[in-house]
Amino acid sequence: MQISTVSKEINEWSGSVLIAGILEGTIKSQINIFKTIIKDTLLSKKFSDSKFEGKKNQKISIELIEGKIKKLIFVGLGKAETLRIDDLRKAASIATRQVASYERKLGIFFPWDAFDPSLGACAVGEAVQLSSIKDLRFKSETKDPAQINEVELIGLDNITTQSAIAEINPICEGVKFARELVSAPPNFLTPFQMAKEAEKLAAEYNLDLKILDKKECEAQGMGAYLAVAKGSDLEPNFIHLKYSPKTAKKKIVLIGKGLTFDSGGYNLKVGASQIEKMKYDMGGSASVLGTARTIAELKPNNIEVHFIVAACENMINGSALHPGDIIKASNGKTIEVNNTDAEGRLTLADALVYACKLKPDSIVDLATLTGACVIALGDEIAGLWTDNDQLSEQLTKAAGKAGEGIWRMPMQESYKSGIKSSIADLQNTGPRPGGSITAALFLKEFVNPSIPWAHIDIAGTCWTEKDRDINPKGATGYGVRTLVNWIKELSLEAN
Ligand code: BES
Ligand code: MN
Ligand code: ZN
Repeated sequence: MQISTVSKEINEWSGSVLIAGILEGTIKSQINIFKTIIKDTLLSKKFSDSKFEGKKNQKISIELIEGKIKKLIFVGLGKAETLRIDDLRKAASIATRQVASYERKLGIFFPWDAFDPSLGACAVGEAVQLSSIKDLRFKSETKDPAQINEVELIGLDNITTQSAIAEINPICEGVKFARELVSAPPNFLTPFQMAKEAEKLAAEYNLDLKILDKKECEAQGMGAYLAVAKGSDLEPNFIHLKYSPKTAKKKIVLIGKGLTFDSGGYNLKVGASQIEKMKYDMGGSASVLGTARTIAELKPNNIEVHFIVAACENMINGSALHPGDIIKASNGKTIEVNNTDAEGRLTLADALVYACKLKPDSIVDLATLTGACVIALGDEIAGLWTDNDQLSEQLTKAAGKAGEGIWRMPMQESYKSGIKSSIADLQNTGPRPGGSITAALFLKEFVNPSIPWAHIDIAGTCWTEKDRDINPKGATGYGVRTLVNWIKELSLEAN
C-alpha cells in the first residue's frame, strides 16, 4: 500500500473513495468544503437524517452516482478538546472497514491541525493499513486478491510529515509479519519454520543470526527449555538474532515466548481451555520477530538489539515431561514441574539466563503466559511486571503512543511462597489466585537482579475474537509498535 500526502484542496482531489473525519460540532462550517463533490443541501439532509454530528464512532457512507468519486464516508472524531491520537486511529479504522477492497485509491481528509500533523498522519496511515490487511495465505483461491493500493492524506504538507510517513510501511510490515506468524497454524509454523523465518530476516536485512540446536542447548545446560521440547517429535530451535549498528551505545534484549503449539502436555488442555487456539502461544516471539523486521528497516543508530526465541512445542509422547518431574535450568536452579501446562515459563527461564549472559542494559520479555492475566485485564490490556520504575515508565509511554493497552501489575514478593517446592528449589506453578503474578515471580528467579527487566503478559492481547479498532479478527501483532517506539526513544536518548 502506497501512502502519501497531498497538499491539495478537496475539490482538486480525485480517487474512488473519500474519507472525511469530522470533529463534533463542526459539520455546518465544513459543508462548504464538500460542495464540489455533493450538493450542500443534499449533504445537510444526509447529516440530519442520519443524526450525524461528528460524535465518536458515528459514521455515514454516501454512494455518489455522478462524478469521479464513488463514495464519501464521514466519520466522527468527537470533541476537539478531548481529541486523542487514538481517536484518529479508531475513526480511520471504522471508515476503512466501509471501503470495499476492490477500491483502489482512497483519500483521507482529517482535521490534521487539531493534532501534531506528523503524529496524526502516521496514526491514520497505520490505522488504514492495519485495519485492512487480509490474510489469504491459506485460501485455495489463487487469483490476485483486490487490495486498496493507494492512500492519499489530503491537505497535509509533505515536508513536515515526510519522515513520519516514511515510517508507516516499515511499522505495518512488522505488525503484519507478527500477525502472519501468529495466524499460521502449528503444522506450518513449527519450531524449525520459525528458525527459517529468522533466517530469512537475517538474510534480507543483514542481521547476525545464531540458531542453537538441541545439542547446543544441552551444552548450555538448558534443562528447563529442553524438558518442554522433549514431548514433541519436532526438535527445538533456540533463535538468537542481532541488530547491531556500529554506532550502538546501548544494548537491549527482547525475548518472546515461542510455543508453536501448547497442548498442555500431560496436564492436557481439556474443557474450556481452548486447545485449538494454542497456535498463538508463540505470540510473544511473533512480536519480537516483527519488531526485528521493523527495526532492521528503520535502522536506529545508537542501539544494539538482540531478539531471542526458545522455540518448541508442548506435546505428549513417551518421553514427554511427567507432572512431578524435577528438571534443572541453565542457572543451576532445580524445578519441580507440578503442572506441564505451565511450560512457557520453563522455556523463558533458560532464555532469560542466556539473555543475562549478553550483559545488556535491559531485557524485556513478551509472552502469552497465563490465562490469569486474561481474566484480570481482558483482551485489550497486557500486564506489565517489573521492579524498575524507569523501565515501567518507558514501556508504558511507548505503549500509550502506540495505542496498545498496558497496565503495571504488582511483583508481590510474598506470593513467592506459592512457587516453593518441598523437594526442589522451585515449583513451576502456584495457586490459581494471582496466577499471573506467581508466573512473573517465577521468571524473576532467572534474571540477574542487576539488569533491569520487564515481563509483558500478552495472553489476552495477542488475539481478538472480533474486529476491534485497527485489528481485524484474529492475530493483532500486539507489542510490535510498543517495542518499536521504545527502541526508537532509547536510541534518541543515547544520542
Ligand atoms: N499458553 C498458556 C496461557 C494462555 C492461556 C494463553 C489462555 C492464552 C490464552 C500457558 O502456557 C498456560 O497454559 N498457562 C496456564 C498456567 C497454569 C497451569 C498455572 C494457565 O494460565 O492456565
Ligand atoms: Mn500451557
Ligand atoms: Zn503456553
